Amino acid sequence: MPSSTRASVAVGRKLETRPLLVVFGATGDLMRRKLLPALYGLSVDGHLPAGSVILGAARSTDYQDASYRSWAALGLKQFSPFHPDAIDPWCDATLFYQPVRDGAADDYRALAERIAALEKEHQLDGNRVLYLALPFEAFAPTIQGLGEAGLGHGPGWTRIVIEKPFGRDLDSAKSLNQLVHQYFDEPSIYRIDHYLGKETVQNLLVLRFANVLFESLWSRDRVSKVEITVAEDLGLEGRAGYYDRAGALRDMVQNHLTQLLSLVAMEVPAAYDAEAIRNEKVKVLRSIAPVRPEQAVFGQYEAGTIDGASVPGYHQEQGVPGSSVTETFVALQLRIENWRWQGVPFYLRTGKRLAQRVTQVVVNFHRPPVTFFKDLDPEDVHSNELVITLQPNEGFDLVFEVKPPGEAMATRTERMRFRYAEQFGNLPDAYQTLLLDVLEGDATLFVRADEVEASWQLFAELLAHPPAPKGYPAGSWGPSAADQLLQPNEEPWSRP
Ligand code: BG6
Repeated sequence: MPSSTRASVAVGRKLETRPLLVVFGATGDLMRRKLLPALYGLSVDGHLPAGSVILGAARSTDYQDASYRSWAALGLKQFSPFHPDAIDPWCDATLFYQPVRDGAADDYRALAERIAALEKEHQLDGNRVLYLALPFEAFAPTIQGLGEAGLGHGPGWTRIVIEKPFGRDLDSAKSLNQLVHQYFDEPSIYRIDHYLGKETVQNLLVLRFANVLFESLWSRDRVSKVEITVAEDLGLEGRAGYYDRAGALRDMVQNHLTQLLSLVAMEVPAAYDAEAIRNEKVKVLRSIAPVRPEQAVFGQYEAGTIDGASVPGYHQEQGVPGSSVTETFVALQLRIENWRWQGVPFYLRTGKRLAQRVTQVVVNFHRPPVTFFKDLDPEDVHSNELVITLQPNEGFDLVFEVKPPGEAMATRTERMRFRYAEQFGNLPDAYQTLLLDVLEGDATLFVRADEVEASWQLFAELLAHPPAPKGYPAGSWGPSAADQLLQPNEEPWSRP
């Protein structure tokens, strides 16, 4: 992507400090595809001051500073090819590597010494970010290793960033919270969910709370159902080892979809700050009864065709055991038992290898209570919809009925569209936004301890008694059984 088409995070945000960032999982996919490009982008845009240090930490002993820089530069040229001439000098000046082998106490002691040495050599201020870009099993031993090596505190501030999924279930999330609180205070813990860094997800707050028009319709009085879809056409992208142990419920529903749900459904916060917003998000999650297995449909993709190309089924993917019952699709219905939403079904749906990539919130409004037009059946008048497209083609559509000119009385469904790209060009990257927030100490877009536990609680029954996954062809919209979650008089699942 040429630099002219790249969007930057907010102008004017410049750090007063030169921090040291340690990334665990430094040789992994997330680092190469997302974190390095985001950190490089922040540097190029002047948000991360020159002279800051990034120390990659991973088990591998195959790398040293020089070979790690070459690996990182190759990745940057592939995933972030703007200002290509600046990539090698940036890697040489900024990146370092430290093996943590099998995570013994000595390895963490050596890491602590390396951090201190780098801070001294580069005359840094002692402010540190510890970023755990690791699979969930590795969080606890890493947190413990860091804490025991005295890295929970440093000469300046220390912030720890923990990727999702935060645990495997409610019990493991609680244990992880207890463990991390032994070494870090809650305000220094940043549980990351990259969906919260997407501009369009943040815009849900503006759409709702800066527009009287929508907020005044946002309740059971006017809304008949809400549908939240995060559909992917991609498959595993070489991540079978992680994905087959996680599945769609842990990988997507408990975090990304639940975050979207809480932003769509929460009450108006008292202020735009981390505590007020997160209080409201927790409140809404606590108003939902845990989802029962009969309220959900699980699926697993089979061979099929996407965009004219044949793709293998889940069982044929490299690294997936032939007997795997891991779900690659989840659709579920839930109810929010509060004054605003009582009686309104919320439907959540996500899957891999679906017909197309789209993340959408569709708010369906009630049909008119009586048919006033004498020649029309009630079914001829469709319900209004607000379709909020979070990616791609970001924007929203208001779907409404019009009378086609010249005809006898009839209705036709039309759309009024707003598209971000037409007004604003490209949108900034979510990881850049969130990394800058961590560096600035703003936790508004991160998940609090009680919030992560409340979201696991919602799916506790489902995780304990998962429905058997039903097959669906790659390139479809998931198993047809998902239709049975809908009530007989409801509009079908939206097809973007
Ligand atoms: C990640 C999941 O958190 O989100 C992936 O682990 C998924 O499985 C990805 O593909 C989707 O993110 P985005 O930003 O491409 O919608």
